[in-house]
Amino acid sequence: MICMEPLYEGKAKRLWATEDPNVLRMEFKNDATAYNGEKKAQFESKGRLNNTISNLIYGVLEKEGVPTHLIRNIDDTNVEVHKVEILMVEVIVRNLSAGSFCKRTGMEEGIPFGQPIIEFSYKSDELGDPLINDDYIREMKLASAEDLAHLRGSALKVNEILGNFFAECGLKLVDFKLEFGRLVKDPSQIVLADEISPDGCRLWDLNTGEKMDKDRFRRDLGNVMEAYEEVLQRVKAKLG
Ligand code: TMP
Repeated sequence: MICMEPLYEGKAKRLWATEDPNVLRMEFKNDATAYNGEKKAQFESKGRLNNTISNLIYGVLEKEGVPTHLIRNIDDTNVEVHKVEILMVEVIVRNLSAGSFCKRTGMEEGIPFGQPIIEFSYKSDELGDPLINDDYIREMKLASAEDLAHLRGSALKVNEILGNFFAECGLKLVDFKLEFGRLVKDPSQIVLADEISPDGCRLWDLNTGEKMDKDRFRRDLGNVMEAYEEVLQRVKAKLG
């Protein structure tokens, strides 16, 4: 049977069923959105670039013992992934001040933190992914204390691995967002899900400070896909 309708369509990806109930096909779209969908555009190569970058980054993480939902790449814009139940908590790690941190605090952009900041937000487009804390997560029953400790530990480990990796690519990992899911075939296992790409990370050139991520789109800086392509080329060169 050929499925004509995706199981789920988000702002940047579609999820399709496969013959295996524990496996999905994740398709990266060329759509770009910002400010919770208020700003929209299409970029011809965005799906391919994000899929390729995300697969390479997931490969780096898997090698370091971080489990992810990735099974295998299918083509330029499609991957096979383990089906997960996504946790409704997004985890954001910040190494330098930027974005909503600056908006919230009035602090100028680019100030390095003594230690990484971990932030949680409630995954809800309707509410604009509001910032929440451990107490909210407990009372909203979004994750157990044990799961939350696991998310925090994983996020810090990912930060350590990717901070070093991107530095070797001449990029500063300013901040990023992670999503986690529970494997449908084994709900005791929580793995990284969604994507890790310049859509969900802030990456600045180590030498020039130039923004190489979705802020180019958010702030109308131009050359959005050129920056993503440059990130891909640097990641590829580093991996050999
Ligand atoms: P923020 O500064 O806007 O809160 O974003 C922090 C990081 O999280 C940044 O790298 C972009 C990423 N992010 C997403 O990937 N999706 C989102 O919906 C939001 C709000 C942020």
